[in-house]
Amino acid sequence: MSWNELKLAFNQLSYSAKKNKFLENEWEKFEILAKQVNNNCPDFLVNLMNSLKKVEKKKNKGEIFLLDHGCGSALKSFYLIALGYTNIYGVNKNDDIEYLNLILRKQFLISEKRFFTTDGRVLPFKNNKFDFIFSLQVLEHVQDNCIDLYYSEEARVLKNNGYAFHEVPHLLVPYDSHSRIWFAHWFPYFLQPTIYGVLKSIQNKEFLLHEGAKIAKKYNGEFLKLRTPNFHYKKISKYLGSFKELTLERLVSKANFNNYDKDNSLFVRKILYYCFRIPIFGRLLAKLLKNFFMLQTLSKKIIK
Ligand SMILES: C[S@@+](CC[C@H](N)C(=O)[O-])C[C@H]1O[C@@H](n2cnc3c(N)ncnc32)[C@H](O)[C@@H]1O
Repeated sequence: MSWNELKLAFNQLSYSAKKNKFLENEWEKFEILAKQVNNNCPDFLVNLMNSLKKVEKKKNKGEIFLLDHGCGSALKSFYLIALGYTNIYGVNKNDDIEYLNLILRKQFLISEKRFFTTDGRVLPFKNNKFDFIFSLQVLEHVQDNCIDLYYSEEARVLKNNGYAFHEVPHLLVPYDSHSRIWFAHWFPYFLQPTIYGVLKSIQNKEFLLHEGAKIAKKYNGEFLKLRTPNFHYKKISKYLGSFKELTLERLVSKANFNNYDKDNSLFVRKILYYCFRIPIFGRLLAKLLKNFFMLQTLSKKIIK
C-alpha cells in the first residue's frame, strides 16, 4: 500500500465533498488505506509521527489539539484524522477549502468550522489553543513581509510546552522539487534567467530562453523563496525557543521508495539511501550531507 494510492482515495473523497455528495463509502475506503499505509509509515512522515508520540505521553490522540499550518489539500490532516487524531484544524492561503469542513460535518458530525482560508497572516484562533502545530513545505512559499508573522502567530496559538514541527526545502538543497531543476538556484542572480531558461527549455523540450527571467523570478522570489537552514534556525529560536533538528534521523531511517514522486531526483536519493545504510560510515556520510536535504525540526515552546 503506497502514499500515492492514499492520495488517489483522498482526491475521490474531496471530489465527492466538493459536489456535496454522500461520503461514507469514500471515507471508509480512505480510512482503511490510511491505516494500511501507517503500518509501514512513509519515511517523510516518520519524524512527524514520532514527534506526535511526545504529546501522546500526556494526552490521548483524540484530545490533542493540532494545527496544520498551510494544509494545502489537507491530505496529511485527514490521514491523521483517520488514525484517530480527530481534533485537527487547518489553514491555507487563498485556496478555498470549505469542502473539508463538510467532510468533518458529514462523517464526524463536527459542526464547528475547523479549516480556514486566510490571507496567510493572522491565524483565526485564540492564544494557547494547540498542543502541536505542523507546517509541511509551507515556509518556502511565505514571503519576506510575512515570515516573522508566520512564526510569531504559531508561538501565539501554541500552548506552553506545546510542540511545533517544521519541514522546509531550503537554499542548500541542490534539487528544487518545485521547478524540478538541479542547481539553478545556486547560480548568481544575474545568471539565473539564462540558466533557468536553458534548463527549462531542455526539460520541456521547447524553446523557453526568452521566458528565462520570468521563470527565474517565479522559482526564486514570487512563488518560491528558498532560504538557508540558518535563517530558519534563528526564527525558530526567536519565536518558539529550543529546537531539535531531525533531518539526520530521516536520512538514516528505513525508506519505502513506492511513496516517492517518480521525479528525476529519485535515482540519486536511492543511491545515497543505500550508502547511508552502511554501518558507521553511512551515518557519518549522512551527517556530512544532511544540510543538502530538506530540513525537519521540532521545537518546544517554553515560557520561563
Ligand atoms: C506545497 S503546499 C504544502 C501543503 C501541505 N502542507 C502538504 O504538505 O501537502 C504549500 C501550501 O502552503 C500554503 N501557504 C503558503 N503561505 C501560507 C501562509 N502564510 N499561511 C498559510 N498557508 C500558506 C499554500 O496555500 C499551499 O497550499
